[in-house]
Amino acid sequence: MYYLNVNGGKKLQGEIKISGAKNSALPLIASTILSKTPVTIENMPNVADIKTLLYLLEMLGSSYNLDNNSLNIDTSSISSTTATYDIVKTMRASILVLGPLLTRFGHCEVSLPGGCAIGSRPVDLHLKALEQMGANISIVNGYIQATAPNGLKGADITFEKITVTGTENIVMAASLADGVTTLRNCAKEPEVVQLCEVLRDGGVEIRGIGTETITITGRGRENLPSFKKFSVIPDRIEAGTYLCAGAITNSEITLTEVEKTHIEAILEKLEEMGFSFSYEDKSITIHPTDKIKPVDIVTAEYPLFPTDMQAQFVALATQANGVSTIEEKLFENRFMHINELQRLGADIEIDKDDKSRVYIRGKTELLGADVMATDLRASSALVLAGLIANGETKIHRIYHLDRGYESLEAKLNSLGSEIRRDKE
Ligand code: EPZ
Repeated sequence: MYYLNVNGGKKLQGEIKISGAKNSALPLIASTILSKTPVTIENMPNVADIKTLLYLLEMLGSSYNLDNNSLNIDTSSISSTTATYDIVKTMRASILVLGPLLTRFGHCEVSLPGGCAIGSRPVDLHLKALEQMGANISIVNGYIQATAPNGLKGADITFEKITVTGTENIVMAASLADGVTTLRNCAKEPEVVQLCEVLRDGGVEIRGIGTETITITGRGRENLPSFKKFSVIPDRIEAGTYLCAGAITNSEITLTEVEKTHIEAILEKLEEMGFSFSYEDKSITIHPTDKIKPVDIVTAEYPLFPTDMQAQFVALATQANGVSTIEEKLFENRFMHINELQRLGADIEIDKDDKSRVYIRGKTELLGADVMATDLRASSALVLAGLIANGETKIHRIYHLDRGYESLEAKLNSLGSEIRRDKE
């Protein structure tokens, strides 16, 4: 096990490149189960979650070659449809193989993901939608046992809640179903959009891409599409995280390979806090402010403020002059970074009457300490706090961080931070 040793107080300068989006690469890798021919995917992020899903597809019988950030994968030789607990428990997004395996093979067994640190995160909406498409679903010994011996049928489905991987799973399932599927109350995240575009470009008829109502005309199980080569979109959460690194250290840094339209809600909140930006093609530069202002944030589905940026803004708000309010509306337990930030001296209070709301008082001088990462985005919030804490901050259990950030310390150190990865 390793920990990060962050020596705080350094100003940042220079530019870093944003990697491909983990949360786009994951459904895209799962979607290759649908492709008749091998698929090449460029700009693949080099993070642990990608390796985990590729290992799962290899266990199912696929073969792949990952050369730096370019993936070539062939799923034509899949011989198993069982996603086992030992893999799924390490990465809940493995649920994304459920729709593709079921629609292509007519049966599959996928371990239930179980809860995770940030909440119970059920998959009931995925299962209800598949049942509406004619699947028989039962839960036996912690596994989802799904069958559709005559293939899935198109259906008119309304999601009770907006679910990102739920939308992705059912779009993929509908691609090989018989007939037309209409999905209502869909997620509109850029990662969902890219998946739909890749399927459409591969030969699946899809309408309403990027809207709350998506219509898919299934091709039937005998008529798999052939995907063209494509490149993963930039990671909007990685971009937001590094903009917060520039903001919290009040430095001028430039991010390249960023899709500005995917991070409007994040830019808006940073502007409210006093920061300004300049843009050039796919690059964004954040400019310092002489006084960071407090901010009020409520997390919501895209295109509103993303829950995956909530922890980072809690850390940033410790440096604002005044009281910020942040409400987490998507997950019931996504404030575990708060106890750790308080160990660094942050002045944060959870509302006694509403546990989804926290108040952050600033500007607070943070002092380095040992802290523990609890989930992917909480880990990045602790790194941000460490960048400005006096002295050394040691962040333990950084395997959480490695799940979703490619070369984090190398990128930040290239900007002037002092971060070392040491063995426990
Ligand atoms: C995706 O998770 C992301 N992961 C998460 O990013 C992100 O936080 C989340 O969307 C919300 O934006 C990937 O894309 C791989 P949901 P997902 O289904 O799809 C409830 C990160 O940091 N729900 O949109 O699992 C659920 O409990 C990760 O990169 C049900 O009740 O999230 C939650 O309250 C963390 N039943 C809400 O919906 C279901 O069947 C949104 O969940 C499905 C979801």
